[in-house]
Parts: sequence; structure tokens; C-alpha cells
Amino acid sequence: LESTYELLHVYPPVKGVQHIQLHRPDALNALNTQLLGELATVLGLAETDDSIRAVVLSGSKRAFAAGADIKEMADRDLVGILKDPRQQSWLAITQFSKPLIAAVNGYCLGGGCELAMHADILIAGKDAQFGQPEINLGIMPGAGGTQRLVRAVGKSLAMQMVLTGQAISAQQAKEAGLISEITQPELTLQRATDIATTIAQKSPLAVRLAKEAILKGMDTDLATGLRFERHAFTVLAGTEDRNEGIKAFLEKRPPVFSGR
Ligand code: HXC
Repeated sequence: LESTYELLHVYPPVKGVQHIQLHRPDALNALNTQLLGELATVLGLAETDDSIRAVVLSGSKRAFAAGADIKEMADRDLVGILKDPRQQSWLAITQFSKPLIAAVNGYCLGGGCELAMHADILIAGKDAQFGQPEINLGIMPGAGGTQRLVRAVGKSLAMQMVLTGQAISAQQAKEAGLISEITQPELTLQRATDIATTIAQKSPLAVRLAKEAILKGMDTDLATGLRFERHAFTVLAGTEDRNEGIKAFLEKRPPVFSGR
């Protein structure tokens, strides 16, 4: 356990997987400037660390995160929000190019739900609750809650969640496609780590471009997405890992990917 971070537990990578735990227990992991800044810093370091192939992000049993820090927001006027330093941190999280897997238990609300939606894969314990309660505060989601949520669950449920502020259960989140699996709460982190470990054994270049292609496709029309996919697919033909992967299959042995 590295102790350089006050509001995060950052564990040394195991088999290519780094576990980051949000750790602000007295405020249900509410996302203040410091916490988001620390998260952006850790992801920035993970970005260039070849020993890290995937990241698992978790909170506590009680809360993944209960939202942006409302006490901190209370002190900000329009100009304060406009100059909000957290914007830079959100951007860094958005730009993280390696697989990010969220292991969600308990409250996953507001900015917490928006953070979870930055993950590429979401796994949740059966007691998890997902919601965008900003409307109850006279505000609205501001870190992707009106955009990523609608892409994940469709218009009707996104509208319902954002306009009523009411949370949905893990079961509803699974049915709507917001998360891919439900586990017993005590197994969520293990399951997320298992998935991350599987991904960490693949060629990191293929993983990176596949992630980029999927995200690109969510942002654009089909023809543009397909063109991007074709280009990415073509680029991979120039990698050693592609040659190794195909050779290993033909030689009936497991591949050894070098990341080149
Ligand atoms: C700051 C928070 C917080 C938050 C909880 N706490 N959520 N502090 N910001 N978002 C603090 C409480 O003040 C309390 O501290 C401690 O955490 C425990 O919370 P309780 O309310 O006592 O727990 P409980 O009764 O179990 O209720 C849990 C809860 C409730 C239902 C999750 O805390 C809640 O409604 N929280 C706010 C959820 C919310 O509205 N989130 C959206 C925020 S707006 P003290 O010191 O008082 O005991 C947002 C905008 C995003 O996210 C925009 C991004 C740019």
C-alpha cells in the first residue's frame, strides 16, 4: 500500500492490474477537488507505466461515491464553477487509454455515477444503487450524466433518473445495460479484478486500440466508426504482438505478448 495519497488507496500492480480504492469514508467518498486530483494523478502515472495493463476502481461497501462534494460546491458561484479545477481532473480520467473497470457497491450517485460511467466495464454488487440526484439540489448532472447515461441506458430511463432524481437498483442497471454483471457485494472487487487480469494478459496495443474504437464509435456515425476501426485494425498488422498471436495459434501454444 502506497501512502502518498490521502483520499485514495493505491495498491502496487498484481499481474498487470492496479487497484485504486476511493478512500474518503467520512463523506461516502464524495468527490472533492483533492480526491479527483489524486485520481487524475494516479491514472496519469498508470498511463505511462508498462507494468500496468488495466485498472480497477472501487469504493467502499457502503458507497462507491455519493456524488460531487456538495459542501465544496456550496462555496462556488458561477465564475467559481466556470474555473473549477476539477474539470482538468475529469478530462484526465476521460483520456485514460487503458481499460478501467469499476467495482461498484452501495451508493453510486451524481458525480459518483458519472465517475463509474467513465469506466469501460462496470461490475456491481447486488445492493448497489445508481442515480443522478442533482435535480433535488436544483442543479443537473455536469460530468457526463446527461450524455453517458443516455448512451448507456437509453432515453426513457435516463430522463426518468435525471428528472426524478430517483436511483435504480443493480438489477435495473443490469437490465438497462449500465453494468455488465451483478455479484454478491463481497465478490464485486474480486470479479472486477478477474476481468482486469484476463485483459492484462492480452496484447496491450490491441486492447488500447479496441477500447479507442469502441469509444470512438459511441461518439460518431457508423461510417466514421467503421473507418476508424479499419485503420486501427490495419495499424495492428504492424505489431510484433499480432505476429506472435497468430504464430502461437498456428503452433498450438499460448502467445507471449511483448507490448511491441
Ligand atoms: C458531501 C456528503 C455527500 C456529498 C454524503 N456526504 N454525500 N458530503 N457531498 N455528495 C456526507 C454527509 O454529509 C455525511 O457527513 C456523511 O457523508 C454520511 O452521509 P449521510 O447522509 O449521513 O448518510 P445516509 O443517511 O446513509 O445517506 C446516504 C445518502 C446521502 C443517501 C447517499 O448522504 C445523500 O443523499 N447524499 C447526497 C447525494 C447527492 O445528492 N449526490 C449528488 C451530489 S451533486 P456528515 O459530516 O454530515 O455526517 C453532484 C453533481 C455532479 O454530484 C456534478 C459534477 C461536475
